[in-house]
Amino acid sequence: MAARNCLKFLLGHEARTLDAVDPTATVLDYLRLEERRTGTKEGCAEGDCGACTVVVARPSPEGGLRYQAVNACIQPLGTLDGAQLITVEDLAAADGTLHPVQQAMVDCHGSQCGFCTPGFVMSLFAMTKEGFPPETDDQAIDEILAGNLCRCTGYAPIARAAHGLAAMEITDGFDARREETQAALAAMDDGADVSLTEDETRWFHAPASADGLAELMLQYPDATIVAGATDVGLWLTKHLMRPDPLIWLGRARDLATIEETTTDITIGAGVTYSDALAHLSWTWPDFGAVVRRIGSTQIRNAGTIGGNVANGSPIGDTPPMLIALGARLHLRQGRIRRVIPIEDFFIDYGKQDRAPGEFVEAVTIPRPAPGQIFKAYKLSKRFDQDISAVMGAFSLFVDEGRIVTARVAFGGMAGTPKRSPSAEAALTGHTLEKSAFETAMRALAIDFKPLTDMRASAAYRLKAAQNMLMRVFIEVTDEDAATRLWDKRGIDDAGL
Ligand SMILES: Cc1cc2nc3c(=O)[nH]c(=O)nc-3n(C[C@H](O)[C@H](O)[C@H](O)COP(=O)(O)OP(=O)(O)OC[C@H]3O[C@@H](n4cnc5c(N)ncnc54)[C@H](O)[C@@H]3O)c2cc1C
Ligand code: FES
Ligand code: FES
Repeated sequence: MAARNCLKFLLGHEARTLDAVDPTATVLDYLRLEERRTGTKEGCAEGDCGACTVVVARPSPEGGLRYQAVNACIQPLGTLDGAQLITVEDLAAADGTLHPVQQAMVDCHGSQCGFCTPGFVMSLFAMTKEGFPPETDDQAIDEILAGNLCRCTGYAPIARAAHGLAAMEITDGFDARREETQAALAAMDDGADVSLTEDETRWFHAPASADGLAELMLQYPDATIVAGATDVGLWLTKHLMRPDPLIWLGRARDLATIEETTTDITIGAGVTYSDALAHLSWTWPDFGAVVRRIGSTQIRNAGTIGGNVANGSPIGDTPPMLIALGARLHLRQGRIRRVIPIEDFFIDYGKQDRAPGEFVEAVTIPRPAPGQIFKAYKLSKRFDQDISAVMGAFSLFVDEGRIVTARVAFGGMAGTPKRSPSAEAALTGHTLEKSAFETAMRALAIDFKPLTDMRASAAYRLKAAQNMLMRVFIEVTDEDAATRLWDKRGIDDAGL
């Protein structure tokens, strides 16, 4: 099938077909500059402040529509293909009656200068469509709104509005038009590869399958792959880069799958954090708890584990956990596939084991085995929306009180996410005694010479990493030790 050369989506309830698309234009550029929908604001242009929050609705695999808040400032316009884009302008009824979310913000005095307000409204709107958690306590509200910053209100009035909404049964104009919207989106779902350009010099490709992606990557081996664009989007807005071509994998449904067997979980490169979260939390609670702290709801709705790995950052949160768990990375170049231990992917700072034209297809994580203990801690200056200073992950196999094998991996301690062979050797073969962990703590200094940067000094990083090992010891030997802040729902905070 020939590629389709236009972008199709719904803006609110109106169909849009764009024949000429700047491949690096963002959804925010389009809304403000083309559509003159200026309700969606630009604050930071890097996914941090949430002023640009819009809601993207797509058909859900379970039926119906799924509404997700995303940051318009870092989403390339082409990623809207086949979706409904909803902005703050779409919420009020035709007669001007405010949407219940807007009304709640008014009633609770949740807006002062108003710059952040459309973003908060859209984050809350997404929750009214998807359903607030069964027990919407303060922590749940924090989690929903962590990606929206306000410099004026002090948050309490906004949180009150959110609590009020969580207690309401809300039906709105989107429910009334749900079938019509679903039919319109289904009509756009033509299964075609999509190739977009403004002037035939730079291109945005969106293949409809992993095979299509593989072919394109052979054709353009140095293309920039876009998954959730939570890293790539910043190259466009902050570094003003114009990579060509961009190849978005979000249309390839066969990359957005999670396969569970009795031994493994395989997460496709197109699976977002939000979609992976339940599987991860269920299987490895600490993994899930760290993922809950990656960026914000908006970032987790777009970002992928595949992107976190492929990016190769030494401070990505998932690689140390994947390394400690002995995950395997699936790489593909054309028809050639190879599977490598994930730790081998990270060769050096900025250098990964990925050939031109090759891409990450999936990651396979072994399920917990008898005797396995898995712990992971994220240390960052803020609880949400912050990159780790140190990220530690620890997998111990314990038999009759003795550590049979140990895998200890850190992020933020070297130019790549990396294991600590010396700490592992210090633990292996020992019983769960404090002295073994103290030896392992000292051994970290052999394997790591961390950097000083704006997140932490070298000495602080080493000390924090050592203390994480002691924390593992305390947690495995004293279940009641108060090492974490526990919330009422029993979900731990992964690291504070
Ligand atoms: C506000 C904000 C907060 C953040 N917070 C965190 C955080 O707390 N923890 C954290 O670890 N990260 C954080 N990040 C960074 C980012 O969200 C993650 O690294 C995320 O996992 C990237 O995934 P993505 O799908 O968005 O990747 P993209 O931005 O689409 O791509 C990232 C890189 O990987 C390449 N790539 C993507 N998919 C593939 C593939 N399948 N094969 C080959 N190459 C590929 C791209 O070409 C690019 O080089 C944050 C980012 C922002 C903007
Ligand atoms: S403008 Fe700040 S998150 Fe988009
Ligand atoms: S009301 Fe002013 S920034 Fe939130």
